[in-house]
Amino acid sequence: MNRKNQYVLRGFFYKVLITLALILAFMVSGCDSATKSSFEITSPDGRVSLNFGLKNDSAFYSVFRQGNKVIEDSKLGFILDEVDDLASGFTIKEFNTTSFSETWEQPWGEKREILNEYNELVVNLSEREGLKRRLDIIFRVFDDGVAFRYVFPEQEHLKEFRIMDEITEFSLTDNHEVWSQPAYRPDRYEYLYSRKRLNEVADTMHTPLTLETGEDLYLSVHEAALTDYAAMTLFLKEGNRLECDLVPWSDGVKVYAETPFSTPWRTIQIAEKPGDLITSYMILNLNELNRVEDVSWIKPAKYVGIWWEMHINKSTWGQGPNHGATTENVKKYIDFASENNLGGVLVEGWNLGWDSDWWNDGNGFNFTTPYPDFDIKEVTDYAASKGVELIGHHETGGAVDNYEAQMEEAYAFYEKHGVNYIKTGYVNPRGMNGKEWHHSQFGVRHYRKAVETAARHHIMLDVHEPIKATGIRRTYPNMMTREGSRGMEFNAWGADGGNPPEHETILPFTRLLGGPMDFTPGIFNISIPENPNNQVNTTLAKQLALYVVIYSPLQMAADLPENYLNQPAFQFIREVPVDWEDTRVLNGEIGEYITIARQDRNSEDWFLGSISDEEERTLTISLDFLEPGHKYNAVIYRDDTQAHYKNNPLDILIEEREVTSDMSLTLQLASGGGQAVHFSKLE
Ligand code: NOJ
Ligand code: CA
Repeated sequence: MNRKNQYVLRGFFYKVLITLALILAFMVSGCDSATKSSFEITSPDGRVSLNFGLKNDSAFYSVFRQGNKVIEDSKLGFILDEVDDLASGFTIKEFNTTSFSETWEQPWGEKREILNEYNELVVNLSEREGLKRRLDIIFRVFDDGVAFRYVFPEQEHLKEFRIMDEITEFSLTDNHEVWSQPAYRPDRYEYLYSRKRLNEVADTMHTPLTLETGEDLYLSVHEAALTDYAAMTLFLKEGNRLECDLVPWSDGVKVYAETPFSTPWRTIQIAEKPGDLITSYMILNLNELNRVEDVSWIKPAKYVGIWWEMHINKSTWGQGPNHGATTENVKKYIDFASENNLGGVLVEGWNLGWDSDWWNDGNGFNFTTPYPDFDIKEVTDYAASKGVELIGHHETGGAVDNYEAQMEEAYAFYEKHGVNYIKTGYVNPRGMNGKEWHHSQFGVRHYRKAVETAARHHIMLDVHEPIKATGIRRTYPNMMTREGSRGMEFNAWGADGGNPPEHETILPFTRLLGGPMDFTPGIFNISIPENPNNQVNTTLAKQLALYVVIYSPLQMAADLPENYLNQPAFQFIREVPVDWEDTRVLNGEIGEYITIARQDRNSEDWFLGSISDEEERTLTISLDFLEPGHKYNAVIYRDDTQAHYKNNPLDILIEEREVTSDMSLTLQLASGGGQAVHFSKLE
């Protein structure tokens, strides 16, 4: 059976399951005109519960886990422009509770089958007096957290309206430790995370916001399904109370809306171990179903690219004697990709617009005019003959109007040339069109338009300088991956010495909780001889481990092809998959270390990545994720005894062992080090 037919059949199977679940849900559901003013709703296994109620006619919620408070009474509502706010004077008109359970399949991902199981409470509020405007709130309680969204139903006295602020609160039980990066800064979403006490953070913070509580609980506050709204940032209002701060338009309005209208979901994930935040799929579950019917053209891939050479000043994006994107150079990369099991070649700097200060003003970019020394037909024909795909590039310099004016043609141009992947970019410290925040509703609408346009042209996206990930990949599986956060490029030129060794041990517990990241690992020439003031702050073994630790369906081998020649360690990059059947987080402490094992979706092999911060450490893991009763050949790529990220990063040892699921493995990680393992099942 071909893959598409399998999908149709599975789709049918899941539809039957969902229908049964809905019938059951209806039978057990409660629906009432309300005489109650407070409600408790628990998760399917009873672990997590949420209380909703009115106090002095304002709406509040609180959250418990195993009877202990996780979120204190926190306010819900809106400040509106011109009309009265929707924040008090409420009465409960009706409520409704349902249950839902479904297993669905990701077309690609970090795990194939995802369980979506929750209990839901819908509360219909209305103003008691005056215009009697209505506001609904939908709460979902999962075993691993809670989520809620506001719905403004269609109504006479609320049609077009402007949200000046959302006053949703997350009132924490203590002055927890928090891992955050600041919002409202010129480099958008690309700052190092810091660990502080809540009351030590002066900035407004981006989400996902990860908190460590004293009671061995880990929380992540984020949002899901950000589609036509402003991104939510958080600031400490008073005490331990975080409040939502929506990123505004340049005119100060936060959100332009028209009823019927729904906000994104506000999410609080709750875990006993930090690794359980990673294997919580709540964010995906809260997104709408796939809208791309035929997904057979959507494929994860590994790629190389004309990219690092510009970042280390070896070649240029713009024209001149060192222009990177020449037909000849691209062919060299195509040869390398085809010889090394890498499906794609990214080409940056191929089109008109790079010869001025593009990062300040991207209006010079033209997305259908190649530079004279880049022959797109010759290059794409050559790539096709070698079984390699070109990954196109649209840097916009933040000039979104210029990009949108060309968007349809630009995507059609690439589609015509058989280019099915595009990396986009929005560098501009002054924002989009020189005035709008990337995370504003303006930005959100633009990114959505790009994803939809790309889907129509059968194009997969890798977005740099993106808005944060909120699970849109479920609805548009062509939204493959994105940057957002400091990737490898900061090691090439970062004035602060690049990413410190702890950086990659923080990302899985923070940024990556939103979704995949195009971090671009795989630098082998770690000392970067071309940029003597910079180096990559990891060992070589850690570079390999990042392919497993940092999940992305598009995964770059970022170094220059010549730096991979005669390197036995490169075999791991040749073999590591980009699409997974399952993911297990074996251990981890935020900012210290993490070990992840993933099973290949297309074979029975497992891959493991383990990384450390600047501490050397020894970790022992059980191999019980392997199938019992079978032998596996483990090829281990590890830091040798003298390895150290600073002065001995290339000291790698590759060894083979036969292992079984009842064995354990001791991982020896150097300072700034790591370990990667490929377990192949033996017959
Ligand atoms: C920033 C992106 O993150 C990087 O990958 C790209 O090379 C430059 N912009 C140029 O578009
Ligand atoms: Ca960037």
